[in-house]
Order: sequence, then C-alpha cells, then structure tokens
Amino acid sequence: MKEKIWLSSPHMGEKEMIYVQEAFASNWIAPLGPNVNGFEHDLETYLGHNVHVAAMSSGTAALHMALIILGIKTGDEVICQSMTFAASANPIAYQGATPVFVDSEESTWNMSPEYLEEAIQDRIKKGKTPKAIIVVHLYGMPARIDEIMAIARKYGIPVVEDAAEALGSTFNGKAIGTFGDIGILSFNGNKIITTSGGGALVSTNTDYVNKARFLSSQARDAAPHYEHSHIGYNYRMSNVAAGIGRGQMEVLPLRVQQRRSNYQYYKKAFATIEGIEFLEEPGKSYYSNHWLTAILVKNSNFTREDLRLCLNENDIDCRPLWKPMHLQPVFADAPYYGKDTSERLFDIGLCLPSGSNLSITDLERIVSTVSTIYDYVGVPHLIKTSV
Ligand SMILES: Cc1ncc(COP(=O)(O)O)c(C=O)c1O
Repeated sequence: MKEKIWLSSPHMGEKEMIYVQEAFASNWIAPLGPNVNGFEHDLETYLGHNVHVAAMSSGTAALHMALIILGIKTGDEVICQSMTFAASANPIAYQGATPVFVDSEESTWNMSPEYLEEAIQDRIKKGKTPKAIIVVHLYGMPARIDEIMAIARKYGIPVVEDAAEALGSTFNGKAIGTFGDIGILSFNGNKIITTSGGGALVSTNTDYVNKARFLSSQARDAAPHYEHSHIGYNYRMSNVAAGIGRGQMEVLPLRVQQRRSNYQYYKKAFATIEGIEFLEEPGKSYYSNHWLTAILVKNSNFTREDLRLCLNENDIDCRPLWKPMHLQPVFADAPYYGKDTSERLFDIGLCLPSGSNLSITDLERIVSTVSTIYDYVGVPHLIKTSV
C-alpha cells in the first residue's frame, strides 16, 4: 500500500527542538516564560504595523477573548461569515449572543460586503445594532477587507478578523490580521505554522492586548494572595508550545513560498482538465499564503464527490470546503443574509493536499491520480472533454 498523503500536516524546521529544550533546561514548563515572550515578539515583528500580540492556547480561545474584550454578552447579535469553520462562530454562542450569518462573494469566497451592509441595516431596522463583525480569510485568501472595514466604520461596529488560516497573507502589502480592531491567528497542527495547538490575539490597541493577557491567565488582580475582580480563563499558551512557535517563525517565509508553489504546480498541471477552477487572488492588492489550494469542480462528466472519492481511495487526503454555518443544524435558527453563493461553493469545492512538506513525488502522484478520473467514473475515452 502507498503511504498516505495528508491534507496539511505539521512541518518542523531545524530550531524548534532547541527552543523546546531551552524550556526544559530552564524548567520554564509553564503557561508563561521566555519562549512565550519571544514568540509574541517574533509575531509582532513579522506582522508589523505596531501590533501587539498575546499568545493563547488556541485560535478558538483567542476568538472567545476577542468577543469578551469587545463586551459581547447575552442577547447581543454578532455578524459572522457563514462559510467558515465552526470555531469562528462558536464563541458567539459561548457568550450567549446570537450569530447573524452573511453569505460569501464569488471573488474571494469570503464575506460579501453587499450582504454585510444589508444585514446591518436590517438588524438595525429590527431594533438591534450588531455588536461585532467576524470576517474570515478562508484558505489564506484575504477577504475584501477594505470594503468591509469601511462598512463597519460607517456603522461604528468593531471588526474581528479571523486570520486563523491566513498568517503570511497580505492586502495592499499589509498583513492580514492587522486590519480589524482585533485579529486572531491559529497554530493548530494543520496550519501554515504550528505549535501543536495554539493561537494568538492581535491588536494595535494595547489595552485590548493587556486585557487578553490578564483574562486568559485567570484574571489575577495585583495582590500577594489570589484576588479576583473579573471572571478569568485559562487560555494562555504554554512556554513549551511557544518554543515550537519560535522555531516555526524562522521558517514562516519559506512555508508561505512552499504553499504558494503547491498552488502554482496544481494550476499548471490541471490547466488541461476542463472545468477545474481555482480560488485565485482577484487582483494585485491580494496576496494569499495559499494555505490550502482549493478548487471548484465544474465538469459535466465528473463531480466534486467523484474526485474526492477517487483521491481518498488512493490514500490521498482531500476535503470539501467548509459547510456554511447557516446550513448547520446547530445554527438552524440563526438569521442569515445572502443568497446561495456559499452553498454552491460548498457543493462543488474541494481542498487539495497542500502541506509545505509535500514532495515532488507526492505532487506527481496526486496529479496522476486526478488524471484517472474519467476511468474512475467510467466515461469512455472517446467523449473525454479534456486531454
Ligand atoms: C477559520 C478558522 N477559525 C478558527 C479556527 C480555530 O483555531 P484553533 O483550532 O486553533 O482553535 C480555525 C482552525 O482550526 C479555522 O480554520
């Protein structure tokens, strides 16, 4: 049997173990320490634009912190991109608030500015101004963030950028995650860099970042004993995990290059197959880390499911796009604004193996498996629509 090719697996550099060993040698096996400070500093330098960073135990924890800091509470409404991973929306429910979902637009697959404004206006008409907007940069592709920020500012609503998948992406040269009032990152095992599990809260607002550090380490007031005037959380990143993160930061630019080159490889290889379209940067302002190469299958002879099963049966991992939140049973009662863009993308979209550690042999195997699709679906070669 052939070795399995994963969708996106961890890819260590050469320095991670050194930082982790330092944590052991100095006995900083704690949710704070020099690696946490160092990792935060490395992220601040990489992102630029005077941002401050608080390292967290996960991207989900960072999102939850962001909503707490913005004062989201029971009964509030928070606008959220519908097409995303559930972790973008779950923290809204943790706070007892209601998510209001907004459809995607075709060019970036992210939040539609048009439906965002429609949603805001309608919620205001119904008597409730949304308290925050969560916009996501799926698969590393920057959302139409300039338009979204302009709409948010017009109505005075703070923006949380879910940049879990987009570290290394930019819009007009500015790092994704630094546009909103708060941004969040994820270092889960499948992300462009990983700390095995981890996340970060990003903001130019020092009060927000200091508050995140305080609340995420059990909200201990300054006193010799344990004194608490706020509800706290145990959401800080450990010094061991941050050691992995420091090593990963040294290879981040290379990882971006490797993921982008996977995308280029697939694009060239599939150019002759009819009806395979890529999630592409829609203009010069957009620079995607291409965390995952995502395609749409619009071929009359085979479907997305045919292609997914054909790859899976050959031990090649690939996944449908995120199923929109407004279609999820758990959010069935939540308001939704838009039409069927995210639903259509979900029906025909597929994420291809995209790890920065894919070898050329892996890529060749993936492409040659895709090229067997007509045989897989039993379409006679004579009526093949591709070369
Ligand atoms: C879009 C998006 N938001 C949030 C998260 C949550 O991050 P984490 O797994 O670090 O909690 C993820 C990934 O897991 C994600 O892909």
